[in-house]
Amino acid sequence: MCGIVGYVGPQSALAVVVEGLRRLEYRGYDSAGVAVVADGAVVTAKKAGKIGNLDAELAAHPLPVTGTGIGHTRWATHGGPTDANAHPHVSFNGRVAVVHNGIIENFVVLRDELEADGISMTSQTDTEIVAHLLGREVALGVELPSAMRAVCHRLHGAFTLVAVDAEDPSRVVAARRNSPLVVGVGQGENFVASDVAAFIEHTREAIELGQDQVVTITADTVEVTDFDGHPTKVRPFHVDWDLTAAEKGGYDWFMRKEIFEQPKAVADTLLGRYDADGALTLDEIRISAAELRRIDKIVIIACGTAFYSGLVAKYAIEHWTRIPCEVELASEFRYRDPIVGPTTLVVAISQSGETADTLMAIRHAREQRARVLAICNTNGSTIPRESDAVIYTHAGPEIGVASTKGFLTQLVACYLLGLYLAQVRGTKFGDEIALVMEELAAVPAAISGLLTEMDPVLKLAADFADERVVLFLGRHVGYPVALEGALKLKELAYIHAEGFAAGELKHGPIALIEDDLPVFVVVPPQGRDMLHDKVVSNIQEIRARGARTIVLAEADDHEVDAFADVLIRLPKVSTLLQPLVATVPLQVFACELATRKGHDVDQPRNLAKSVTVE
Ligand code: F6R
Repeated sequence: MCGIVGYVGPQSALAVVVEGLRRLEYRGYDSAGVAVVADGAVVTAKKAGKIGNLDAELAAHPLPVTGTGIGHTRWATHGGPTDANAHPHVSFNGRVAVVHNGIIENFVVLRDELEADGISMTSQTDTEIVAHLLGREVALGVELPSAMRAVCHRLHGAFTLVAVDAEDPSRVVAARRNSPLVVGVGQGENFVASDVAAFIEHTREAIELGQDQVVTITADTVEVTDFDGHPTKVRPFHVDWDLTAAEKGGYDWFMRKEIFEQPKAVADTLLGRYDADGALTLDEIRISAAELRRIDKIVIIACGTAFYSGLVAKYAIEHWTRIPCEVELASEFRYRDPIVGPTTLVVAISQSGETADTLMAIRHAREQRARVLAICNTNGSTIPRESDAVIYTHAGPEIGVASTKGFLTQLVACYLLGLYLAQVRGTKFGDEIALVMEELAAVPAAISGLLTEMDPVLKLAADFADERVVLFLGRHVGYPVALEGALKLKELAYIHAEGFAAGELKHGPIALIEDDLPVFVVVPPQGRDMLHDKVVSNIQEIRARGARTIVLAEADDHEVDAFADVLIRLPKVSTLLQPLVATVPLQVFACELATRKGHDVDQPRNLAKSVTVE
């Protein structure tokens, strides 16, 4: 939430920062703004709305070309999306400009203090107080890095801050607590940003920042300290994807591109998982086999789509390992005094690695001495950094706000984890594991094939423009798929959609069924699955009450033919792996329908990628 960029170097800071903001716009698009340091002053431009509005403002009122600047793209928390509330905010004395991601929880107290000091506010944001506090410090002769440290000590809550001082054009100073910040290390130029996408065009060398750190960049130096000014060790990393991965590459939407990247993303996440002896190996797991054998409970915590991948994981992990596995919304976890301890493995699933709810949940779990394993797609992000172990998914950058390849690769990582635990604990033998791995290896081709057969889905989307309510049904692992299908439709097409466990239908939701109500049903594999016939009966029950059924079933499952108004055929895979294919048509459907409704598919209303506030 909120994208932040800072630059010092020989290029035009304005150009670098605005381009960086464009690449971070998926993190928030309520307003955008920039500040550059020129001739002893900070000069800003900012506009409510998407970056296009800022572009127009800059075209009408160009800013000076200088080598030092900061910028921000906002997801509004305190104060509506107006020009006045857009960042950067400038201090009362015009010295300091600051951008911020997060929430300053004690801002009312600090604002009252500043107002008592005669400083009046020009916005409704919590951020503005930081500009004034910094402005007050530098006016006393304190240099910006020290001023930043002093001010950070006074702030409660979550923040990434990036600031410039009009009287010191050589540096940009940034700080982080609980919100993301990475440094891009260039040749004679340096960057700070919420994520690497902002500077990938200029450098693929980056530095991960830790909690409560302040970084000062000049064109040639990067200096990191804690809030008390002690130098701290940093962790450099190389970004293993390039600019093309962060561009649309001819697609109309990032989301569509990301849907089509899924075969590769799944294949890449499976790559290199066997050692020379043919044993499944997860290099990144830094928890010993002995410890994994002692685990007596697994708790999966995640939000949104990642939570649904956790629901699928529960079926696979319990089946393969016989370890009891709970799945919990990260936002609920720490508030209910959960029972976790040294023999609990907490699995945190997060594409971005920055989701505040998930981060707070893992901190709570670690306080209870649980071991935490992250499943994450973002190198250099906070959640893997604060976990005992990590399995990285290799989806490449996911820029569409609605998760697609993130979800499928999370599923793959969960299957790998389940199989690995089964191997370590001896609940599955090598040949059984090899069979599942073989089947997983065939999934990328199956998805590619499926993606060439989306005509019924595209046609269906053309008929859905006026639908107000859509239901999704599934059983077993088909239930999380139904939830995910419904979530995609809500967030992209703004349609009221609900996912239900098909078996629950008769316990209430069937009352919703009326003539022509569209209901998607995910049918388990035929013959090999005892639930197949039960789901077919569920389809008949809703059809008898007038529902229009859109049935997702295996290619040669003809038992469903008579009960389907629309049939979407799925490739053959075993039950546990079926979400890897069954989700894909639902993603395509939501993307297509939203496109037809004229919505911004990559940046749906009110949302932002990477939810860094609780
Ligand atoms: C929905 C979606 C969200 C995220 C959720 C968790 O399409 O993308 O529900 O899945 O906000 O995000 P991560 O995985 O980054 O923790």
